Amino acid sequence: VNRTIGQRGLHATTTPFPNKLAFAFDIDGVLKQGHHNVLPQAKRVLELLSGSDGRLPKPIPFLLITNGGGVPDEERRAILSEELGVELTENQLVQSHTPIKEYVEKYKNKPVLIIGGKGESCRRVAESYGLKYPYIPQDIIAWKPSIWDRTELTNEEKSFVKTTDFSKISFAAALVMHDTHDWGRDITLILDLLSSNKGIFGTRKKGYDKSNFKGDVELIFSNADVEWRSDWPIPRLGQGAFRLSIENIYKSITGLNLPFIQFGKPFKSTYDFSELMLRRYLKQVNRNSNGELNVYMVGDNPLSDIDGANRHGWSSILVRTGVFNDNNGELPSHKPTIISDDVEKGVEWAIQEEI
Ligand code: G3P
Ligand code: MG
Repeated sequence: VNRTIGQRGLHATTTPFPNKLAFAFDIDGVLKQGHHNVLPQAKRVLELLSGSDGRLPKPIPFLLITNGGGVPDEERRAILSEELGVELTENQLVQSHTPIKEYVEKYKNKPVLIIGGKGESCRRVAESYGLKYPYIPQDIIAWKPSIWDRTELTNEEKSFVKTTDFSKISFAAALVMHDTHDWGRDITLILDLLSSNKGIFGTRKKGYDKSNFKGDVELIFSNADVEWRSDWPIPRLGQGAFRLSIENIYKSITGLNLPFIQFGKPFKSTYDFSELMLRRYLKQVNRNSNGELNVYMVGDNPLSDIDGANRHGWSSILVRTGVFNDNNGELPSHKPTIISDDVEKGVEWAIQEEI
């Protein structure tokens, strides 16, 4: 049987097709390195799996699962389709906050502070999830600049802030939708809400009784990555580092552990949601959506991609193009099925395994 994959690809006549095989790809550090740098191996792999290069007798299903976000799912899918050169359908992209859509249903008629990104993009994500009263930090600064006087609104920000008297607004939750561009401002606003009376800025709960302190505002994070791989060759701090700083400040001020809800890889809610999404995609392309699946997760971060895949019972392929680096013999914190130089070598190994 001809088992070569490489340049000549699978030969349908001689090789059984890997019908149970599917892939879950992380984005940053696997398909991309930073906002504008798509890895050439990534393009070749997605051409192979989508069938667009004709090397496969039929497509091998895949989806993308990222701890990135900050742009409405539909918008990000269109951008990624363009960048990666492959047509992604609605069931092929899970962003850090995609699984949160169902969770925030209970807040749809309540004011929610939406943290993350530079401009209004995260507000638009919130609106796309049905939240009717999403406010962003710039709205608060526009109302009372002295809340955090280290930040001046830019003219662009002044053009989109929502002028509101927040002394009458009772926030139900603070949702960190994406990495913030102003840690000091947003840590301050989050701590204000957590210690407020009924989520009203400018108020303070009376004292912190360690035994029964119950904040009125729920704090939700969408990504626990302490580090991630951007254009810079050394990993950069992510939303998980932002959360750690809030945890430490909150502890030093109140003596209490920060109360929060965490979404994103490696957590169960994200992998359960992604499995549902994958099966919806299989149904959409008339493949066996209820049958047994052998999913291979390809990631660069052992703490999010490998740990999550292993816990979910998927195979895991750890690549060397992102956060993980074993140049000095470092072993990954979570053991993958294999370690591979890059996504292309990893995919070819997985196909060999499955034929
Ligand atoms: O902010 C994105 C970063 O935390 C990691 O994204 O695609 O590697 O899960 P990704
Ligand atoms: Mg990554």
